[in-house]
Amino acid sequence: MKRHFLDLSNFDLSVLRSIIDDAKLRKSGELNDKPLDGKTLAMIFEKQSTRTRISFEVAMKKMGGDVIVLSPKDMLLSKGETLEDTAKVMSRYVDIVVIRSPDHEKVIAFSEAGSVPVVNGLTDYAHPCQILADMLTIEEKLGTVEGKVIAWCGDGNNMARDFVFASAKFGFEFRIATPPEYAMDDETIAWAHKAGARVITTNDPVEAVAGADVVMTDTWVSIGDSPAESDQRMKLLRPFTVTQDLMAHAGDSCLFMHCLPAYRGNEVEADVMDGVRSIVWDQAENRLHIQKSILAWCLEKL
Ligand code: CP
Ligand code: NVA
Repeated sequence: MKRHFLDLSNFDLSVLRSIIDDAKLRKSGELNDKPLDGKTLAMIFEKQSTRTRISFEVAMKKMGGDVIVLSPKDMLLSKGETLEDTAKVMSRYVDIVVIRSPDHEKVIAFSEAGSVPVVNGLTDYAHPCQILADMLTIEEKLGTVEGKVIAWCGDGNNMARDFVFASAKFGFEFRIATPPEYAMDDETIAWAHKAGARVITTNDPVEAVAGADVVMTDTWVSIGDSPAESDQRMKLLRPFTVTQDLMAHAGDSCLFMHCLPAYRGNEVEADVMDGVRSIVWDQAENRLHIQKSILAWCLEKL
């Protein structure tokens, strides 16, 4: 059975726990082996990336492996070779593939056609590498994620969806404040309720952040979103900007997180992003540590 890492909904907590614990050991330097010696990672980016691309490349190299970074326009995918044929061929050359695509179905199709593990490097549906890194960051800062209240303000997007899945696994309350037009989809909410997750949806950001341990937001225009819709997004999401005033409704110790890239003045005020409650740089660093452990798990070294 191939160990894909596509979204968090299908994972047992024990697997996610082992990945986080391994990442903690690697971050502290207690674990410094090179279990991926002789392995090759290929990464296909249909969209730009700073953190995911760099952290996976550094992670793979530090663990002893090699990396190839590809863009579909440089491959025969751009001339009509099918994704399935590409997956079958690549599986003969490399040991694991990370894919970033605005179309989650493509990543699934690739994972089913090929014979090597596939990691979702962000799709329109989910961003599991980021969310697992965020679990690590919250545990570092607050000791545990279980029982905490995490508030999301803004777009009910790919990040928010994987947080819904994570809330069921890790046992935190997840409050999502969005305008009705950009609410989390019904299917995901139904999944959460069936899974017994404490997920609360609202159109009121103040209600979402009241007493929260962590407030989070994300860009208002994600990689798969139509540029034609940008003006409408800016208008409808404006009341969900994370401001100092909004943070005042959370507890004094409430932390601010953002997966980045951040657009100050839109989803977050500069004073919050660069303020004392912000832990965004530790959050970004943890992508590197968690990527190592995700690679190790996918390649059965964990
Ligand atoms: N947070 C994140 O995934 O960043 P990149 O888009 O830069 O990879
Ligand atoms: N929601 C954003 C996350 C970026 C890391 C996007 O999909 O572009």
